[in-house]
Amino acid sequence: MLENMEKMLTRAKEGKYAIAQFNINNLEWTRFILEECQVCQTPVILGVSEGAAKYMGGYKTVVGMVKNLMEYLKITIPVAIHLDHASSYESCVDAIDAGFTSVMIDASKETLEKNIEISKRVVEYAHPKGVTVEGEIGHVGGSEDGVVGGILYAEVEDCVTYVNATGIDFLAPALGSVHGPYHGDPVLAFDRMEEIKEKTNLPLVLHGGSGIYDEQIRKAISCGIAKLNINTELQQAWTKGVREKLASDTEVYDPRKVIKAGEENMKKAVHEKVELLGSMGVLEHI
Ligand code: 13P
Repeated sequence: MLENMEKMLTRAKEGKYAIAQFNINNLEWTRFILEECQVCQTPVILGVSEGAAKYMGGYKTVVGMVKNLMEYLKITIPVAIHLDHASSYESCVDAIDAGFTSVMIDASKETLEKNIEISKRVVEYAHPKGVTVEGEIGHVGGSEDGVVGGILYAEVEDCVTYVNATGIDFLAPALGSVHGPYHGDPVLAFDRMEEIKEKTNLPLVLHGGSGIYDEQIRKAISCGIAKLNINTELQQAWTKGVREKLASDTEVYDPRKVIKAGEENMKKAVHEKVELLGSMGVLEHI
């Protein structure tokens, strides 16, 4: 069933596991992720960036596609459709009006005061409609900054001020992770993560989940991470399968066969991540 992220992340926080946000880019990805998460009996968050939503034909198209696929595939696990890194209040409103069950407002490049002002407006629009809201403090670096790095670590006091002033549901504090591939080892500020968890008491979100070592992910969960965002690793897994298919079968031209060549790799990546996060089979115990 389609849900916001409240129940799934509150349970994850209490049970000391995390739920995956897998970003979707097209119909086939959505299908592969839904099918594998149904097998794993885990709730799942389908992350949709503004760019991916544009690519797929807008927010309404995305919601229609997810809902209809869920019905067609008989998906019974809880699924959230979550706007990832919304750049404005207006973008959040459009997604909520189209049926997204959750949004992330990313005003992390603004001053703290401005970030609070924008995030609070989003919360005021979202909550009466039963939509959950995630916000970011500090700044998760990555390829979108044009430079690798660009990380601005979240300050504990800023997180507390932001959470209290906005009424946000989930907090994504930037603590060393980056979007896209890492150049060098990821360095995460675990002590600060734990302090933020204790002082805000909210489920925390870790962006840039691809390329972080398994041990670091386990430690992050013990320090309060209840949601891990993964995009790049699925892209790499899918592309590898498609590349191999095109190299080994030079006669293939049916796009369905080409796209399907990434299915097995992608499902394997989804399965392994769900297992690592500890959310495998959690629905069987609810
Ligand atoms: P990766 O692409 O590094 O997995 O990050 C995904 C993400 O954080 C989406 O918000």
